Amino acid sequence: MRRKLVAGNWKMNGSLAENEALLAGLQAGLGDVKADVAVCVPFPYLAQVQARLAGSAIAWGAQNLSPHARGAYTGEVSASMLRDFACTYVIVGHSERRALYAESDAVVAEKFAAAQDAGLTPILCVGETLEEREGGVTERVVGRQLDAVIARSGVEALAKAVVAYEPVWAIGTGKTATPGQAQAVHAFIRARVRSLDADVAAKLVIQYGGSMKPGNAAELLGQPDIDGGLIGGASLDAGEFLAICRAG
Ligand code: 13P
Repeated sequence: MRRKLVAGNWKMNGSLAENEALLAGLQAGLGDVKADVAVCVPFPYLAQVQARLAGSAIAWGAQNLSPHARGAYTGEVSASMLRDFACTYVIVGHSERRALYAESDAVVAEKFAAAQDAGLTPILCVGETLEEREGGVTERVVGRQLDAVIARSGVEALAKAVVAYEPVWAIGTGKTATPGQAQAVHAFIRARVRSLDADVAAKLVIQYGGSMKPGNAAELLGQPDIDGGLIGGASLDAGEFLAICRAG
């Protein structure tokens, strides 16, 4: 049985004071949560989050990393730097990175490999735009995004990774994919991996992301191939995030 993983993606939000209150709220309410829980935070707050969460049941990580190990890459952050702050996870290929910072499938595949080389667990985001969904090419797009990573790192690399299906049209819009729509793409992802390695596919944790809230989490997380959530807006509110975690 796959364990559920509910991860918060804070995106570019927070302050030392806000984080303190949020993390205290999460720790106070975690008692009856069965799912694995993580928060992916902005780089400058990794030290704070490490100090606050070390020894707790909540793991932490970052939202991006450089594909390079070190050197003249002004403004970038390497995988080993994230390991210095005991990160477990790092998000790669979030649709905001792909769209706003022109990250190609090839760059995302390099970041995925760099994360794993350093012992981090990448959370690989895949997902189609509204135009792509309406054009009937959802599976082609998601398949291409997945294949780029498999071509670079091999299917067995997915044994130490998480995939997050995040339809771009559902992110921050309040417009959630229906459980049926999400399940169909999750099943497609698992089948594609299964065609290469049945064991990896059976164990692969595939999260759904896109306007997941306490009101829709239980139904989404109840689908056979939905193994958790990657939560944006609702992860900034301890009560809402914990309610989603409890639904897992
Ligand atoms: P929202 O939950 O705000 O829609 O964001 C989802 C997301 O992008 C998580 O990575």
